[in-house]
Amino acid sequence: MTTNTNKRVYVETYGCQMNVADTEIVLSVLDKEGFSPTEQIEGADLILLNTCSIRDNAEQRIHHRLANIAHHKKRKPELVVGLLGCMAERMRKDLLTEESIVDIVVGPDQYRLLPELVSEAQYGERGLAVKLSRVETYDDITPLRTEGISAWISVMRGCDKFCTFCVVPFTRGRERSRSLLSIVDEVKYLSDHGFREVTLLGQNVNSYRWEERDFADLLAASAAVDPMMRIRYTTSHPQDMSDKLIETMVEWENICDYIHLPVQSGSNRVLELMNRTYTVEHYLERIDKIRELIPGVALSTDIIAGFPTETEEDHQKTLQVMCEVRYDGAYMFKYSPRERTKAWAMGDSVPEKVKTRRLQEIIEQQNRISLEKNTEQVGKTSEVLVEGPSKRDPAEWKGRTRENHTVIFPKGDVDVGEYIHVNIGRATSATLFGSQVDETGKPKVIPLELAIR
Ligand code: 5AD
Ligand code: SF4
Repeated sequence: MTTNTNKRVYVETYGCQMNVADTEIVLSVLDKEGFSPTEQIEGADLILLNTCSIRDNAEQRIHHRLANIAHHKKRKPELVVGLLGCMAERMRKDLLTEESIVDIVVGPDQYRLLPELVSEAQYGERGLAVKLSRVETYDDITPLRTEGISAWISVMRGCDKFCTFCVVPFTRGRERSRSLLSIVDEVKYLSDHGFREVTLLGQNVNSYRWEERDFADLLAASAAVDPMMRIRYTTSHPQDMSDKLIETMVEWENICDYIHLPVQSGSNRVLELMNRTYTVEHYLERIDKIRELIPGVALSTDIIAGFPTETEEDHQKTLQVMCEVRYDGAYMFKYSPRERTKAWAMGDSVPEKVKTRRLQEIIEQQNRISLEKNTEQVGKTSEVLVEGPSKRDPAEWKGRTRENHTVIFPKGDVDVGEYIHVNIGRATSATLFGSQVDETGKPKVIPLELAIR
């Protein structure tokens, strides 16, 4: 029994899915020390914010949140507050100023030290652990997952691409992959525990390499574990989108027909300044190959508006590439200068007003395309994995198609984790609405008492 038995930890997770996966590692490390997770901040003995640094507004949110948490600390001085993740790594001891309420600052490769740091903080000792590692993968730690049917598995950490706008190589360090065997074991474990979907995660997942195995090998090995387990992955770099990887997706039916492939810009001049290492032509050739081998595949992307020196012509090229690819969805951002990156030295030359307008044009165009593409689904029948109640109406279920489209439908006699067929009746730019049918496409007759459950 440790001194921390029955202590409560409250965690808020910001930013990307890597952070969500890391929080599960953190909870697992703390669980062994007697900390159990709580959803109630009021009763917590330890508050952790797992932070993001990708854009300045992500960091601003954390500063505001800390100001808010200060009230809790005032009421309960023995409360320990910790900052984890990318912002911890980036700002380091600057977060431990005298007026700061933060007791511990822990970077993404140092979570094993958390129990020690927390315990020292309980005796008034502030702590900093931000060393990045060339080897740390948390390979032997089983993440403490909340119950559900979808799980994240982090398969590699860090990034060596050094896109000139991106702070990730500085906050998450060098690229390193987990062993293929430990990942496959984790997929097995999840399958045995009722999970129906795993997403293999990495900042640059398709550059995964372990001994002689590449990402396509990992994907195949994961898919082979359980044919009823959906396999997804994110995020891919266009440079590493090999034929072998696309062919592997074709080979295994349970690998979902969805690829997130950030393009960032439609201008070769800007792509070069970004150090993205591909041209628009190469990117479009990869998209053609993907669509040739996986007809009906869904594609999404990331786009940055207003990178330094971006001209109106460059911006038009981005709009054009979006029209050519016709993405199912996109994450769209205004460029935000980050210290230490190469682009920081290029200055932030596109005026804020211009950035805002360009981003707006990009968003409007994507919304139009998403709506058109979703409308094409109306009348079609898709296999849907039932994920849980819809947020808006608890009488309805939410699920997703293999192509990652969210579908809402009346509950009927199905349960979370089941695969069903849904005929799409209506679409918005973000969501499909439908009703359950049998495999031949005929409406399912649901007993009244179940239909109104
Ligand atoms: N400014 C704006 N967007 C950025 N991204 C990464 N760095 C920045 C930045 N400095 C975006 C990229 C990346 C996604 C995760 O975040 O589009 O693919
Ligand atoms: Fe950042 Fe580029 Fe690495 Fe993605 S590939 S994490 S954008 S440096």
